[in-house]
Amino acid sequence: MSAPTHRIAPSLLSADFARLGEEVRTVIAAGADWIHFDVMDNHYVPNLSFGPMVCEALRPHAVTAGGARVPIDVHLMVEPVDALALAFAKAGADLISFHPDASTHVDRTLQLIQGAGCKAGLVFNPAASLDVLEWTIDKLDLVLLMSVNPGFGGQSFIPSTLRKLERVRKLIDASGRDIRLEVDGGIKTDNIRAAADAGADTFVAGSAIFGQPDYRAVIDAMRGRLAA
Ligand code: DX5
Ligand code: ZN
Repeated sequence: MSAPTHRIAPSLLSADFARLGEEVRTVIAAGADWIHFDVMDNHYVPNLSFGPMVCEALRPHAVTAGGARVPIDVHLMVEPVDALALAFAKAGADLISFHPDASTHVDRTLQLIQGAGCKAGLVFNPAASLDVLEWTIDKLDLVLLMSVNPGFGGQSFIPSTLRKLERVRKLIDASGRDIRLEVDGGIKTDNIRAAADAGADTFVAGSAIFGQPDYRAVIDAMRGRLAA
């Protein structure tokens, strides 16, 4: 398989909520490939973040200086899933992923998202089994592996995620399909390369980027590690 093109997806969860539009524009100017949008409902996870109205308000800001659309990568940590997934498709999301344990009919939810014109992904918690992939991989655009328990930014990377990434990378390669493998939680400059070596091609980073004054310096350092 040819080397995957790496994507860096800063998570807005660690951005300044009082200046979200500006944060989106600044992090894109600093080299972000995707904008990761963490949706928490205080039910599936013990935290509450933002909804489709905020996504819609940010959509015009998620463009490059040249006007190219930058994908908004919506990570739904909500239960139930379907109604909010549709609301995010209408609000300008490009990719929508959800936790299969939060949907009663996973296959139907995937169809709903793709039928609304978005790419669809499944998200697996650190202790979640990957069994459902056997029956869904022929339909997926994205697999997202949580490397922390969902709900909060700024947690430490759980090392067993590396083994899990290796396993999913094999499944994706065997499928022959164009599926991105994203890792989310505790990604920093000093562990991004290990995640890439294990098979990840897309990297969510919240506190590592928004916790520093110079977003470009962090993103460049991450790309440097990926290229080395
Ligand atoms: C956690 C979220 C993550 C989080 C990552 O539930 O899904 O996207 O914002 O934050 P860091 O990079 O700080 O672990
Ligand atoms: Zn996330």
